[in-house]
Amino acid sequence: MNAAPDQYGVIGHPVAHSWSPFIHGLFARQTEQAMVYRRFDVPPAKFRRHVMHFFLHGGRGLNVTLPHKVAAAGLANELTPRAERAGAVNTLMIQNENEILGDNTDGEGLVRDLQDNCGVTVGGTRILILGAGGAARGVLAPLLELQPREIVVANRTAARASALAREFAELGNLIGCGFDSALLTDDFDLIINATAASTEGDVPVVAATLVSKRTICYDLAYSKEKTPFVRWAESHGCVRALQGWGMLVEQAAESFSVWRGIRPQTAPVLQALIAS
Ligand code: ATR
Repeated sequence: MNAAPDQYGVIGHPVAHSWSPFIHGLFARQTEQAMVYRRFDVPPAKFRRHVMHFFLHGGRGLNVTLPHKVAAAGLANELTPRAERAGAVNTLMIQNENEILGDNTDGEGLVRDLQDNCGVTVGGTRILILGAGGAARGVLAPLLELQPREIVVANRTAARASALAREFAELGNLIGCGFDSALLTDDFDLIINATAASTEGDVPVVAATLVSKRTICYDLAYSKEKTPFVRWAESHGCVRALQGWGMLVEQAAESFSVWRGIRPQTAPVLQALIAS
């Protein structure tokens, strides 16, 4: 008799539109892993209880999405260094039978998508990150590791950007400011939108002159239509505008390899996702 498949899932609120079951289902088939992957829509007040119940009853791993990523970091028994630096967790797994390990694969997902899928060079470039919340925090360290010339973090609330830049200062050349700062010039090689503006159908209010003919724009958000930021970037003449589908698949692949010790191929899954 075959053993029951290992249990995995994604926990969020809301989570009905998550693509993670689709992606991990394809990864499992491709790598012939016996696993099931479900969606769990759990409000914040029930998050801790639900996670404990899942792992106590044999669950092996969870992806964590909004709004639980910070709470998941507080709940884990141990954090990987990258999760600790991000202060947020998107991947939980059981280790040593009764301990919960928290990891964060978001930054790795972005870097892999930029470099491997999109052929974007980060080393030596000047980068603007819009936003200073959890999404920005999660991608800062992996980007700084690639030694860009400078990263400017600009946020609607300038003080939050300055605080974030101070926190990561030892990792590289990093500066924080508001949207109206004189640092926001037209010589950025890469502009990353890490604000939550897209979720409200909005674009951060920054000067269109930031975008030049050589600027690559990347929206961490993704949608079946072009996101508002991608439309904004294209209408101001950027060389390329990308959105976060590749990052989504790459962070999932990194979670999958943390859980299963096997790295799935991402290109066919990204193709299937875009075609679906
Ligand atoms: P996340 O984990 O998605 O980053 P968050 O920690 O709540 O969520 O942070 C949201 C980020 O999006 C913040 O940088 C926020 O700016 P403020 O710090 O000034 O609030 C930014 N943001 C949200 N809506 C925005 C909008 N309409 N325009 C510009 N920035 C916005």
